Amino acid sequence: AEKLRLVLFGEGGVGKSAITIRYFQRTFAEYYDPTIEDSYTKWCSTSSGARVFLEVTDTAGQESFEAIRDHYIQNGDGFMLCYSATCDKSFDRLDNFKDHIQRVKNSTKVPIMICANKIDLKADRVVSQEQGLEYAKKVDPESSEKFAKDKYIETSAKTGERVDEAFQKLLDMTYR
Ligand code: GTP
Ligand code: MG
Repeated sequence: AEKLRLVLFGEGGVGKSAITIRYFQRTFAEYYDPTIEDSYTKWCSTSSGARVFLEVTDTAGQESFEAIRDHYIQNGDGFMLCYSATCDKSFDRLDNFKDHIQRVKNSTKVPIMICANKIDLKADRVVSQEQGLEYAKKVDPESSEKFAKDKYIETSAKTGERVDEAFQKLLDMTYR
């Protein structure tokens, strides 16, 4: 069996911890407690049926922790870049994370999933699906448009909508 390490990045407050806790503990973490670093492990299966030991690292969005980001990138196999569909600024920050990952890994082929969270807050939504998809195309400009839509997912840690699928897709993308 193989060990795969996935890492979540994104602005503070977008829901990285809530997504991770929903996936591992099947509950919604309602109260905001800024993360320093948390990791979670479990055995799971790829869609093709391979057993993998998954480690997920939930990182700090707050900028004061930025210095340790290289370490997570070096150790990570796949990355989930999260923003909140209710926050423009969190969407604008994706590029920093993407560029940083691709620079440290020296590759545009690193598995990256773009995750638009908090889609349950429909009335507060400010970043559209089109904007999210458009961004996913920029992650690897050489890959075709057809694949861009597999790199973009809309989730709600609150309702649980598509959270499992987000991890499964990134896991499948990362396993090879
Ligand atoms: P840092 O650890 O500071 O980087 O933040 P984070 O990205 O881990 O955010 P966190 O998961 O702590 O969520 C911040 C707040 O948003 C919490 O109050 C969560 O309950 C709330 N939240 C997270 N996901 C969702 C969601 O999908 N819908 C709604 N309505 N609230 C959410
Ligand atoms: Mg957190």
